[in-house]
Amino acid sequence: MAQIIDGKKISAAVKAEVAAGVAALKERGIETGLAVVLVGDDPASRVYVNNKKKACALCGIRSFEYTLPAETKEEELLALVGKLNADPAVNGILVQLPLPPQIDEQKVIAAIAPEKDVDAFTEGNVGRIMIGDYHFLPCTPAGCMTLIDSTGVSVDGKNCVVVGRSNIVGKPMAMLLLHRNGTVTICHSHTKNLAEICSQADILVSAVGKAGFITAPMVKEGAVVIDVGMNRNAEGKLCGDVDFEAVEKKAGFITPVPGGVGPMTIAMLMRNTLTAAKLQNGVE
Ligand code: GUN
Repeated sequence: MAQIIDGKKISAAVKAEVAAGVAALKERGIETGLAVVLVGDDPASRVYVNNKKKACALCGIRSFEYTLPAETKEEELLALVGKLNADPAVNGILVQLPLPPQIDEQKVIAAIAPEKDVDAFTEGNVGRIMIGDYHFLPCTPAGCMTLIDSTGVSVDGKNCVVVGRSNIVGKPMAMLLLHRNGTVTICHSHTKNLAEICSQADILVSAVGKAGFITAPMVKEGAVVIDVGMNRNAEGKLCGDVDFEAVEKKAGFITPVPGGVGPMTIAMLMRNTLTAAKLQNGVE
């Protein structure tokens, strides 16, 4: 039976550490601020944004929320990003993705000042991750790494399989595992023998977005299983990509959904916002 990795507890510890850092800056007269921009009324995005706001309050970070209508024009959003880039009270800028179809996501990401890019989505920051010389770690992969580290299992020399190749999760996740000397395989919708490849993973990270995608035969006995999925099952209940009940019996460690990767992503965003405030104020 797998040990359950408690993302809620681990994220609380990270947020407490960030709150202490934010308080130390405040003593020096420096406020830390994060701007969160939501375009449209996607219910899942609304939940994420509300959770980010709550985490800011807990960490002592000022949060500036901008909710724009779904029909917002690209120029309007670019103008807002420009304004936030120039605002010294804003240390971090997060534009919630996905954006409505009339807006070019890459264009908006490119407009964010790199030193305020707390998602680590801009070209320069992505490049820095590739090289291994970065200020901002991408939030979800960084959260997954902290969860893996909490197990005490070393990544060095292990077979690591990442399912999913998105710019937000799959690609940077593979890179972070590689930096730790993992032997990394990225699987995606065109991969042949996906089940067999997964079954050889000592560390398996799934970021597919399909409930029940990772079944017990795809998991190696004793593996560390990290579930990035955020899906609704047939009953409308929140669940990950992993068939939790079956895989729990086989894995060594497993993250639940909810209460696994989700809270970690937000904790890492708080950490990046603190890092941004320090960098912009020449602290450390
Ligand atoms: N949408 C889903 N995850 C994320 C994230 O980590 N950052 C942003 N900006 N949008 C998202």
